[in-house]
Amino acid sequence: TLPTHAISTGDGRSFECGSTDTLLRAALRAGVAATYECNSGGCGTCKFTLTSGEMHQLDPDAAGLTPRDKRKGKMLACQSVPLTDCEVALQAGDAWFADQSTPGVRSGRVTRVRHLTHDLREMTLTAPGAAEFLPGQFAMLTVPGAPIHRGSPDGAPRGLERAYSMSNLPNDDGQWQFQIKRVPGGAVSGIVVDDLDIGDEVLIDGPYGHAHLKDSGRDIVVVAGGSGLAPMVSVVRGLAERADAVDRRIDFYYGGRTPVDMCAIEFVDEVRDRVARVELVEAVSMDDADDGWTGPRGFIHALIDHDTVDGLADRDIYIAGPPMMTDAVVRKLVLELGVSTDNIHYDRFF
Ligand code: FES
Repeated sequence: TLPTHAISTGDGRSFECGSTDTLLRAALRAGVAATYECNSGGCGTCKFTLTSGEMHQLDPDAAGLTPRDKRKGKMLACQSVPLTDCEVALQAGDAWFADQSTPGVRSGRVTRVRHLTHDLREMTLTAPGAAEFLPGQFAMLTVPGAPIHRGSPDGAPRGLERAYSMSNLPNDDGQWQFQIKRVPGGAVSGIVVDDLDIGDEVLIDGPYGHAHLKDSGRDIVVVAGGSGLAPMVSVVRGLAERADAVDRRIDFYYGGRTPVDMCAIEFVDEVRDRVARVELVEAVSMDDADDGWTGPRGFIHALIDHDTVDGLADRDIYIAGPPMMTDAVVRKLVLELGVSTDNIHYDRFF
């Protein structure tokens, strides 16, 4: 058996962390509402200070820590694995995140695959038990053939994981559906898009993430690019299931490089009869006069404005996609259009 260590947070909370888990995930599994966003070393939200004991760092060069953080001895909870019992000063709320399911690890099998575009593949995994998550949340996937994580502590080699959002809705059948885009040079996405086959085993650890569909009763805007399609499809499907869906309006923005990247229409059509109104705006960013595209061109954030979205200031706005796109959309909404940050929902990945 692999060793387990006792973690105490210095403010009276304690939990166990096994050597195949990270400090962040062990805290979340124990119901300690530790602060985080990406779960992948990129955002820096999960910084903590080690008061006593020894921690192994999965990725000592993770982008979430600045040189100044390192000088001050900060570590990332999502990249730390205890080697001894430890005491930590961790940022954590007093109560578990309302409505969220506690994340767990389960083994799933690929039961369905289909190509949505030349480089975007939908994959459905089936795992024992109910698939419990909120629309817009993500899971960490470990796929067969992924390279071993270079920072694995001795005795616990693990495959490189990636965070992917679910595109379906929670269900009792154990179905976890993803829409994954091939990232050029990516270590994991190429395996999912090109190699995974029916019956292959994939480890699912989740759910994670805070950018899930809220219960606000507001109309919504969703903005997606690339693999960000999946969580926005889930959010739209989730809204369409609600009792007040017939009164709700949805504006769905989807940005891609070229016309062959466009594929959101089927998901918009799927909910059309169940909501008051749904509008789709797809834009291509490449300027190629010969590509046959007659719709809007340019970056997606340029198309969102008070003129183009009725009542923009009173909507809930969900964003998922490449970090540069997410940043550009958030900046425009907040700085130019005066939208309250309380109405904008996204998880930061880098
Ligand atoms: Fe750890 Fe983002 S949650 S760096």
